[in-house]
Amino acid sequence: MILAPSILSADFTRMGEEIEMLNRSEADWIHIDVMDGVFVPNITIGIPVVKALNPLAEKPLDVHLMIVEPEKYIADFADAGADNLLVQYEACRHLNRTLQEIRQRGMKAGVVLNPHTSVSLLENVVEYVDIVLIMSVNPGFGGQKFIENSYRKIEELAIMKQRLNPDLIIEVDGGVTLENASALMAAGANALVAGNAIFSASDVIARIAEFKKLQ
Ligand code: DX5
Ligand code: ZN
Repeated sequence: MILAPSILSADFTRMGEEIEMLNRSEADWIHIDVMDGVFVPNITIGIPVVKALNPLAEKPLDVHLMIVEPEKYIADFADAGADNLLVQYEACRHLNRTLQEIRQRGMKAGVVLNPHTSVSLLENVVEYVDIVLIMSVNPGFGGQKFIENSYRKIEELAIMKQRLNPDLIIEVDGGVTLENASALMAAGANALVAGNAIFSASDVIARIAEFKKLQ
């Protein structure tokens, strides 16, 4: 299982130390939520922050763009040090082209589905992506409640993966906890994002180890 702690729930006044703590942990990726106040009703981290954190991070940066017109910023995020660049399906007019450009810049290309967006819409593009991220909350904020029909979407995507792209990484983001992580993996997820469930712990490194022990 790939575990990607979301720094949206970390302490923004000591972000450097938080990244160094993740370096010492069993976390696999560092998930960074970029929001523009247009695609989602919140504004968070932008390109300069990704650029500042990149030299500190010893783990790949999993950058989740919750912004309109993400194609305008592919080069900027590549230069800032993103390893995975994930765009929202709903924000892309020419998704195939955008994914190609992300790969051409040397990053893993990811597409994110909002809770209302059907997995079947990926039929013509799933061969050209490295990661599909299923949003299991409405994007915009950490600490929200998991939406239960996400399991069905993961199962449907796992079937599409077998048929069209066996190497696909199926990632889940929103309301992931120690309680639901095993069921998500059983449904077919192999990468989990967790914000609140990790950073609310008094010992974050131990909490990450608890996640990594789950099967
Ligand atoms: C929500 C973000 C998530 C968020 C998850 O829009 O995409 O990455 O940080 O936080 P939790 O795990 O607290 O739901
Ligand atoms: Zn996210």
